[in-house]
Amino acid sequence: MKPSKELDVLFSAEQIAARVKQLGEKIERDYDDKELVLLGVLKGSFLFMSDLSRAIDLPLQVDFIGLSSYGEATESSGVVKITSDLSRPIEHKHVLVVEDIVDTGLTMRYLLDNLATRHPASVKLCTLLNKPSRVRTRIPLDYLGFEIEDRFVVGYGLDAAEKYRNVPFIGTIKRG
Ligand code: IMP
Ligand code: MG
Repeated sequence: MKPSKELDVLFSAEQIAARVKQLGEKIERDYDDKELVLLGVLKGSFLFMSDLSRAIDLPLQVDFIGLSSYGEATESSGVVKITSDLSRPIEHKHVLVVEDIVDTGLTMRYLLDNLATRHPASVKLCTLLNKPSRVRTRIPLDYLGFEIEDRFVVGYGLDAAEKYRNVPFIGTIKRG
């Protein structure tokens, strides 16, 4: 079966595109005249990053960082490792982290603490999704696409065991 047929739509491609455009406009206003680095968190942010970057008409740089939680559990342990580091220093740069989803917040807590040791001019977070019911450490969500209930979502970069990342909308897996 086609992956997209296995899902119930939560946010359509059109809804996502409209929200990404709004976020891009806000970021463009806020970072005018600043040296901005968009930092995508792999792999989940790859589509959001490519769309968001094209919605910001500023002379920005893009970079990526690969993170993974230790263990295969679906629950975040808070023990995170960097699987692929930034390609360039971020000292004195304004960094905007681009993330797919904040769940417990433990992954972002680790990343934000790690980035702070590299002396950037500023660090802010742009996350497409947030699950407020699951929060275990409060992360400032400077730019947020959508808040969702405590449901496992896939598509538009998000996966279940590496599947569904290429589905152009965000949805939940149909039962049975
Ligand atoms: P946290 O550390 O609990 O905030 O987990 C964040 C990471 O878990 C995200 O970057 C995702 O990779 C993954 N994650 C959390 N919830 C979902 C979901 O509903 N679908 C797919 N991945 C998720
Ligand atoms: Mg992620």
